[in-house]
Amino acid sequence: MQVSRRGWLKNAGVACFGAASGGLTASLCGASTPPAAGAPPLPWPYVKLDADAVAAAAYEMHYKAGCCYAVSGSIIGELAKKVGAPYTNWPMALMTYGGAGVAGVGSLCGGLNAAAMVTFMVAGSDEKAKQGKASEITRDIFNWYSQTALPDFRPAQPKFENVKIVSRTNLCHISVTKWCKASKCKISSKEREERCACLSGSVARHTVELLNAHLVGAFKPAHPLSEETQSCRKCHDKGSAREDARAQQDCAPCHFTKTPHPKL
Ligand code: HEC
Ligand code: HEC
Repeated sequence: MQVSRRGWLKNAGVACFGAASGGLTASLCGASTPPAAGAPPLPWPYVKLDADAVAAAAYEMHYKAGCCYAVSGSIIGELAKKVGAPYTNWPMALMTYGGAGVAGVGSLCGGLNAAAMVTFMVAGSDEKAKQGKASEITRDIFNWYSQTALPDFRPAQPKFENVKIVSRTNLCHISVTKWCKASKCKISSKEREERCACLSGSVARHTVELLNAHLVGAFKPAHPLSEETQSCRKCHDKGSAREDARAQQDCAPCHFTKTPHPKL
């Protein structure tokens, strides 16, 4: 695909720290040579993928460089085969950063981090309307992950049979530790690695199922927040009386596990 120098610079805006004016763009980015074929604007083209094939690839890739690499790489790898550029130019190694909740921090599950990135890549844009759709799909993936007994992907030749848990969270720390409690395995065990490899399979497959549905205009959110959490948000989140908590996620794993909510 041919992209003009001007178009490329526009797309390179983020790398140039959002420099908008011509002069500033030139001073910050003028020295760099535009590639022959730059990255086209989002969303990038998406075609229907085989969700089971992607899941199997994610499981295998997990053993190479972890969850975030596996979920992004399995989907982008299939797109590279079917669509070619721009996916063939994507640096697969990049998403390794998100492994084990970002660099081992135990924050956002790397599989979900990758699912959100890929969703935005094929359904998002800096235009408001498209951001909304990509965010809606992303939230549905996150809620599915929190509410479903996972991992529900089983490889052709499992290394161990898996214990499934409903994590009620999108955080690596809570998800992994709940699983360790249920399985009586340690975080550094081979069983835990297999569990997360299967989880990468589950997340990659589910993401592809939703993106396939989105492709034909058939995506509908299927995992709303629990009624309890919705009631919390009515008093605490955006548009509420208190507006002191931004959280479109289950509140219960963190709040009032030992003490009740103050009397109102
Ligand atoms: C009807 C409105 C309402 C609902 C529903 C509600 N809250 Fe609250 N929440 C309040 C108010 C008002 C306070 C402040 C109470 C106070 O300071 O005495 C509060 C306080 C809190 C606090 C601070 C508590 C503390 O110990 O200081 C947390 C955390 C909280 N709510 C979370 C939640 C969660 C989680 C839910 C859902 C399970 C929830 N709230 C449901 C109105 C509500
Ligand atoms: C991953 C854990 C986590 C989740 C999930 C979470 N919270 Fe919190 N929340 C916290 C922590 C930690 C604080 C800071 C508590 C403190 O300073 O004592 C906090 C603070 C708050 C406060 C302010 C409490 C105060 O003392 O005034 C409110 C209100 C609150 N959260 C509501 C919610 C609601 C509503 C949800 C769900 C929609 C939610 N939180 C989800 C961990 C969480």
